[in-house]
Amino acid sequence: MKNKLLAALAVLLVAYGIAYLVLNSRDPLLLWDWSEIDTSEKYFPTGFVWGAASAAHQVEGGHQNINNFGRWEKQFHANGEPTIVNGDKSGIAVDHWNRVEEDTQLMVDLGLDAYRFSVSWSKIMPAPGVVDQAALQHYVDEVDTLIANGITPMVTLHHFTHPIWFEDLGGFEKQKNIAHFVEFSVIVFKALQSTVKQWCTINEPGVYMFDGYLSGHFPPGKVDPQLAGKVLENLMRAHVQVYTKLKSLPGGDKASIGLVKNMMQMDAQSQYNIMDHFIKFFADNNYNEAVLRLFRTDEFEFYMPTMADLSSKIDGASKALDFIGLNYYSHYAFNFNGNIDESLEAKAYPGEMMTDMDYGIYPEGIYRAIKRISQLDVPIIITENGIADGKDDRRADYIDRTLYAVSKAIEDGYDVRGFYYWSLTDNFEWNLGYGQRFGLYHVDFMTQERSLKEGSKTYVEIIRQAKQ
Ligand code: GAL
Repeated sequence: MKNKLLAALAVLLVAYGIAYLVLNSRDPLLLWDWSEIDTSEKYFPTGFVWGAASAAHQVEGGHQNINNFGRWEKQFHANGEPTIVNGDKSGIAVDHWNRVEEDTQLMVDLGLDAYRFSVSWSKIMPAPGVVDQAALQHYVDEVDTLIANGITPMVTLHHFTHPIWFEDLGGFEKQKNIAHFVEFSVIVFKALQSTVKQWCTINEPGVYMFDGYLSGHFPPGKVDPQLAGKVLENLMRAHVQVYTKLKSLPGGDKASIGLVKNMMQMDAQSQYNIMDHFIKFFADNNYNEAVLRLFRTDEFEFYMPTMADLSSKIDGASKALDFIGLNYYSHYAFNFNGNIDESLEAKAYPGEMMTDMDYGIYPEGIYRAIKRISQLDVPIIITENGIADGKDDRRADYIDRTLYAVSKAIEDGYDVRGFYYWSLTDNFEWNLGYGQRFGLYHVDFMTQERSLKEGSKTYVEIIRQAKQ
């Protein structure tokens, strides 16, 4: 009897051990003792690109009546709450549309090399097949201004927003609509290819899928797991089609084209609870692994137990990346409470200092993200990283530690080519409105006056030292 019990216990222990190893093999938790680390020891190779990033809807203004998010801002959730915190509206945002010269000077003042921004599909194509030449020219001029000031442009074609007419056709819910996005991308590419060499097709397909189709935070505000999977699949198809098309155009061979992947890490709340690991594994599967697997194998899979099940092949996906853009902000903790649906709701990792959002400060996570995404075997560009910090009392350390982690990854042999801080200025933070201040520059939203934040000087100093 005693022997049988011992044997059963041994089997259980081995099973637990195997499950633990399998569920953790992709991306185990990494915690550094920062009190033991001298962050001043950073190394960045010559030619490493220092930048800042933004997106049209968040900074330009003028989208309230023309794109999916502008329309969303005027709506209410079923419980009567406005879709945007405080009922904020993007409005004129930080008026970047009219302040390109001023904002370019702000970049120069910081010692930046590069600027990542998105072009507004809804301004360039007010109706299907119709091009607003003046809007297109605006971006031609913006790129010229950047280049004249020594700032290299990186253009994002889709950063969460698109014209209302595209949304009303079903947006990325329908595979046949991808042709519209390809058409728009070709128009922009032809206008800018001679001056813009770095292109991001789609920003964070996982976030667009999650917030638009699972959490209901972004338009169209649906909660539909199967449709979420379909939308993610179509976004990835759109990336491959745009990549292939642009590469075939004059100038395509000289363009470097990638996708921007947000790597939010999924962790178990308790390292000892195998069910917590199980839940985080599922969350990671759809949010991170679905995209990484596709780029490795051409196979798309999206699965949520009892809720969604999709799989398909996307030919050419594994050859459709010249670089991968990596956006990194934080990690989430998952804890199994008996109900899979509820347990899939992410929480901040316990015990961490928080940013102003529900993101804990976890700088070593960027090392983890770089290591994992390096499996795609293409150069890595950190296309976004930053902190919402209204008091500006955490920004300096956040930047210092994050860039220490990036530098360590480079020293350990990972091919990271550049870093774009999110964001150049405070701006409209989607469903969270104007309350979240990510900018290197503070913006007074009444006067539009920009002023450099104390904490941002750490970024300036790191850049200065790296270039010595
Ligand atoms: C990213 C997004 C940006 C910005 C940032 C800060 O997911 O691409 O547009 O909002 O988050 O939360």
